Amino acid sequence: MGGYILAIDQGTTSSRAIIFDAQMHIVAVGQKEFEQHYPASGWVEHDPEEIWSTTVWSVKKALSEAKLSASEIAAIGITNQRETIVLWDKKTGEPIQNAVVWQDRRTARMCDELKKQGLEEKFSRKTGLLLDPYFSGTKIAWLLDNVQGARKRAENGEIIAGTIDSYLIWKLTGGREHVTDATNASRTLVYNIEANDWDDELLEILNIPRSLLPEVKDCAADFGVTDASLFGAEIKILGVAGDQQAATIGQACFKPGMMKSTYGTGCFALLNTGEKLVRSKNRLLTTIAYRLNGKTTYALEGSIFIAGAAVQWLRDGIKVIGKASQSGELAAEADETQHVYFVPAFVGLGAPHWDADARGAIFGLTRNTGPAEFARAALESVAYQTNDLLVAMHKDWKAKASDTVLRVDGGMVASDWTMQRLADLLNAPVDRPIILETTALGAAWLAGSRAGVWPDAGEFAQQWKLDRRFDPAMEATLRKKKLAGWADAVSRTLSA
Ligand code: G3P
Repeated sequence: MGGYILAIDQGTTSSRAIIFDAQMHIVAVGQKEFEQHYPASGWVEHDPEEIWSTTVWSVKKALSEAKLSASEIAAIGITNQRETIVLWDKKTGEPIQNAVVWQDRRTARMCDELKKQGLEEKFSRKTGLLLDPYFSGTKIAWLLDNVQGARKRAENGEIIAGTIDSYLIWKLTGGREHVTDATNASRTLVYNIEANDWDDELLEILNIPRSLLPEVKDCAADFGVTDASLFGAEIKILGVAGDQQAATIGQACFKPGMMKSTYGTGCFALLNTGEKLVRSKNRLLTTIAYRLNGKTTYALEGSIFIAGAAVQWLRDGIKVIGKASQSGELAAEADETQHVYFVPAFVGLGAPHWDADARGAIFGLTRNTGPAEFARAALESVAYQTNDLLVAMHKDWKAKASDTVLRVDGGMVASDWTMQRLADLLNAPVDRPIILETTALGAAWLAGSRAGVWPDAGEFAQQWKLDRRFDPAMEATLRKKKLAGWADAVSRTLSA
């Protein structure tokens, strides 16, 4: 066995498999996009069978690219889009309907109703989350109530539920394991992050039978063994973490006060708060960063639903760019005297506003506004939203902006223009590492260290290397003016 580790990164728009060697270098990648389904306004679904088939395809592709057989893989680490939920038949593996995706807003009214009953404080205290359709709990309740026969089948013990990691493990192990890890569990709205267990009171409020839910393990643990018929030999699954938590690990944010921000479909900033469970007074989330050897490390999280998706919109929606990588160049050509603000509330707004009913808006258009100004407004919207998160985090964590260094990763960070604008609008340095595949790396580290072929956390953190630091350079009055313009645009976009 060569110490190779296979990371499966099941994301919102594609499934990926990345093979790392014993020196933690990438040797092969398999990737396949899959279809997004939008059955109604604000609804987003994935076909679980497609999630599964694209995952298997990606693993096979990576193995053949690397010219490796399954028996040479020491372990698998899984990381995944979080909150997205599947209910499936325990015997056949057949999903009862499409997966309801994290971006899906169909339970907005249910959340309003729970809030009216004064229950947000209870959910928040126990789970660290808020009553927003983003999280899995109300999605499970919706499926049980709206898919014909689902509740009866649940009561008869015929169906089970899981986030994408759980569904994949069940499929990979040939239906032998119904498990998840603490980070994914912490996104469901029914997991008590202090007690580290499913919460019976919350399950009862949402009317979800406990028997539906998987066993919760540490992030580095024995999650099962793949069925030999899939890849030609059994492979142990030894690591699991939700993608944002995996990126936190991959960025080696192991110490309290360290923060990363990942720019994928959305943007998720996580601040490691150590063993301390910090309760936000500013509408951020408290979540599990990782649980290793039974010890929980917590994080404060700011979640923005649209980041890279705004660039996708420039490409596929209004077609002002041909490739995502052109967005920075186009934005750089924009007329700086125009103040165009784009609030990308395509699926509502996440932290710190949590407005499920807001929808996207653009302000400040003039006769001179063209594609370049649209591109700049879209990229700036990501920086403004990150700034809103940092402002909230500094209030909760009591640190100054100047004390913050943000480690960034994800597709958007390849653009120098975007990273410089981010540093300018945050008024804080932005660090871009050499290895940008931090999500996959984090999952691989969980599995690799558990398998005993990769180093411990301390040594792993040493390999984190800076590619480039972006220092803030924007003039203070201009920054102030721009931030005020953004705040005004957001206030006009909010639904109430
Ligand atoms: O919470 C949702 C998040 O896990 C999705 O991540 O990378 O698909 O934007 P991503």
